[in-house]
Amino acid sequence: MQVIIFDNPQQVAENAAQWVEKLINKKSGAVLGLATGSTPISLYKQLVAKHQADELSFANTTSFNLDEYLGIDENNAQSYRHFMNENLFDHVDIDKSKTFVPTCNQGENPREQGLAYEEKIKQAGGIDLQILGIGANGHIGFNEPTSSLASRTRIKTLTQQTLNDNSRLFAADEFQPTLAMTMGIATILDARYVLLMATGENKASAVKSMITGPLSAVCPASALQLHENAIVLLDKAAASELEDQEYYLWANEQNLKINQEFGLYHNY
Ligand code: PGA
Repeated sequence: MQVIIFDNPQQVAENAAQWVEKLINKKSGAVLGLATGSTPISLYKQLVAKHQADELSFANTTSFNLDEYLGIDENNAQSYRHFMNENLFDHVDIDKSKTFVPTCNQGENPREQGLAYEEKIKQAGGIDLQILGIGANGHIGFNEPTSSLASRTRIKTLTQQTLNDNSRLFAADEFQPTLAMTMGIATILDARYVLLMATGENKASAVKSMITGPLSAVCPASALQLHENAIVLLDKAAASELEDQEYYLWANEQNLKINQEFGLYHNY
């Protein structure tokens, strides 16, 4: 795991945008895995700005989102499809027919939809770079604590903690879904690179468990310990419970030089 600690959330977003830009410019037909939530909004702002400055085109890019609520349709302002349109897709030149979200509409079978989503990812050639946030409970996507580390895209019941954490986004009388479709942990681990962004002190404990805790379904993000190319971008607050911060800072300086001289592991 490559742990990179920045002074503030803005620098986290800028660095994440550079990873996305590098991939898109290097690989025609790049496949992005995208995330929703508060954390990646500043990343999407950076990407939109780069596009508007004619520095970045998404024309040949395909995307797969991590998760989507059940029980609301894509026109609902709370849907993750709506979130993606608002924060990214409507402002860049991506072909929306090549943007996928694991929806399961009324009358559809979530088991079949999950399998079909896995198949679509495979047909697209797999995900090159998966963007991730982390829940305060250690979840990635909606893989809640005790999710199978071998899980694939499926229907999932949200924990009370996740419902509480996300309730700030719902009006008091608004329907808040308690079920969701989510890529599984094995789906996420299949991505060639994973880029996890975490900012703020409320993530510090989950970040510590992810990086230095035991590999355990209790902290789904700890599964990234098994990934060959996991990059974790943190601000100081999210890194605040980590010991060995000096080492991460120093190792990152070395990694920059090593990558410059020898390139990254995969050429995507
Ligand atoms: P957040 O959510 O970015 O809104 O904190 C992250 C997550 O739950 O994965």
